[in-house]
Amino acid sequence: MKCLPVIAVHGGAGHWRTKKSLEGILKYIEESLTAGMESILEKNAVEGVLKAVMVLEDSGEFNAGLGSVPNIDGEIEMDAGIMDGSRGDAGAVAAVRYVKNPVLLAYYVLKNTNHVLIVGEGADRLAEQLGLEKMPIRERQRRDPVLSSRFWARKEELTGDTVGAVGIDSECRLAAASSTGGLAGKLKGRVGDTPIPGAGFYADENVAVVATGIGEVITLGALSRRVAEAWQATKRIEIALRLVLNEVNVRYGENTVGLLGVDIYGNVHAEYNTEAMPWGYLRYGENPVIKGLPTRM
Ligand code: GLY
Repeated sequence: MKCLPVIAVHGGAGHWRTKKSLEGILKYIEESLTAGMESILEKNAVEGVLKAVMVLEDSGEFNAGLGSVPNIDGEIEMDAGIMDGSRGDAGAVAAVRYVKNPVLLAYYVLKNTNHVLIVGEGADRLAEQLGLEKMPIRERQRRDPVLSSRFWARKEELTGDTVGAVGIDSECRLAAASSTGGLAGKLKGRVGDTPIPGAGFYADENVAVVATGIGEVITLGALSRRVAEAWQATKRIEIALRLVLNEVNVRYGENTVGLLGVDIYGNVHAEYNTEAMPWGYLRYGENPVIKGLPTRM
């Protein structure tokens, strides 16, 4: 069986009323889609989602990699995960400070270790041993006097967080990857959904899903895995995503999460209960489509 390659990415669910520019969001989502598709065509779905997320991490425009928001101590601690649906295997890192591209470190955990999740100092040491590019010190200690003076607590402050990608290659292999700086003003050591397989990301032989929003909600609901279960019951990615979002709305309320998924048929869709969630997709041979942009910033 052959499949039409597809890549989809998002730049985070939230209200997006920040200093970020619409032009920047569009530019980097398009660049991420193009780079991700090139890697899917040259290599496979896992490499495609890896590359797509690295472009977003490097942009500085989103809350991941160079754009990560600081924790309560004014330091950045990042989380990332990547999953190969064809092998049912994942790699992830949490609370890392050393590396410029946490998703690349997660990829090394997937490829080169017997582990799934490595955290903190151990993950930083692994990145150093692998010789991965370092996060500039300036970015590692981005003290923000407002954010670092109080603990994030109110959900309406969900500005726009996390980046993620899902993809399928011509051999019908699905993959998902996610990366974040977490919630602004979070407690030191707090880890959200992004590096937890089944919560912030998930892929199997039928679907690949990534989540964005309040990590505690996403983790408690195991939302990415829950979408995969809903897909099994419906065989329609847009219905599966809508069902799970409805469950979240009932249990945890609105302004909490966004979900993006692609299925084995190449259908791609996103659902979110926040003001905006910039996302886009690119099918092989077609032009990129970008949706979910904020209407006021
Ligand atoms: N969704 C990102 C986080 O809560 O850390």
